[in-house]
Amino acid sequence: MAASRTHALTFKIIAECKTTKARVGKINLPHYHVDTPVFMPVGTQGTLKGLVPEQLVDLDCKIMLGNTYHLGHRPGPELLEKAGGLHKFMNWDRCLLTDSGGFQMVSLLKLAEIKEEGVKFQSPHDGSEMMLTPEKSIEIQNSIGADIMMQLDDVVHSSTTGTRVEEAMHRTIRWVDRCLAANKHPEKQCLFPIVQGGLDPDLRKKCAEELIRRDVDGYAIGGLSGGEEKSHFWRMVTLSTDILPKDKPRYLMGVGFALDLVVCVALGCDMFDCVFPTRTARFGTALVPGGQINLKNKMFAQDFRPIDENCNCSTCRDYTRAYLHTIVTNEAVASSLVTVHNVAYQLNLMTSMQKSIVDNRFPEFIQNFFEEMCPEGD
Ligand code: GUN
Ligand code: ZN
Repeated sequence: MAASRTHALTFKIIAECKTTKARVGKINLPHYHVDTPVFMPVGTQGTLKGLVPEQLVDLDCKIMLGNTYHLGHRPGPELLEKAGGLHKFMNWDRCLLTDSGGFQMVSLLKLAEIKEEGVKFQSPHDGSEMMLTPEKSIEIQNSIGADIMMQLDDVVHSSTTGTRVEEAMHRTIRWVDRCLAANKHPEKQCLFPIVQGGLDPDLRKKCAEELIRRDVDGYAIGGLSGGEEKSHFWRMVTLSTDILPKDKPRYLMGVGFALDLVVCVALGCDMFDCVFPTRTARFGTALVPGGQINLKNKMFAQDFRPIDENCNCSTCRDYTRAYLHTIVTNEAVASSLVTVHNVAYQLNLMTSMQKSIVDNRFPEFIQNFFEEMCPEGD
């Protein structure tokens, strides 16, 4: 018998919805545990913009994201090694997940060129030519020390059609094997492959079927939420979760609008991330049941209610909409206060879904959620 490897991740399903594919689970990782379905806020350069890790602990956030592309530049892998990894460096002792960098590079830099070896790009710092290979991405992610690492994938925009989609899907499969071979710490850092294949059902299926042959602890679904039609988006998610093993976590990348979270939990996804809640907070937009409000709007000038009367975050406990309206355009602290609330909103949405699944009332939860989000007549 093959020696069983030690796992950096274990996943236990605690409850399943009888009507949808939703489930509640517990992921155990080297640094902490995570209850699923989970939303993971995105910290780019080792911070969640405007917050310190203590504030995330206060919000009971158990896992956050970091980016290989940004962290690889600054502070860079040598310094991260010296610092003893990103957890120690940034004073965050709970779970970290790092994205592999390719997606950020392709979406941020017009200059990126994808070859079999890796993603070639011009350094935004000095213009020099650099190459992010699967091996290099894992080397940086090993120096960061994230509990969960992502494979370097070849991502095409969801509007891309033709042979490029197929090429990217096959390359993603070749690259996952190079990533798995490059991981120096499989016992404490697990690695998720990413299902690609654009909006082509056959390519998606093929990709998922090929990836499930790898001995890994979880899978991601990528290349979606790029503005494609909802019907296509949901179909690709459904196809993927139908193939991916039930007993491993499924991570839907880059998805974080409340409505998408609810639908995709019903379709069997367990993990989500998105910059939207934190980015929109910095523009003064607060997430509330039923949608969002922009605190810059004059209508809040004399509104002495909190952002959300039913929210238990420190911003809603201590500050009014009128106060936030007054400071929102010119005070950094306003960004921070709204960010706290928006992260609380996302985490509360996920715990409400968890509870309703455990209590066998997720279908009712969905119905109430949609009635609130899309009132009749609107
Ligand atoms: N973030 C959002 N979508 C993706 C994706 O398809 N791949 C990677 N690596 N990151 C993402
Ligand atoms: Zn709040």
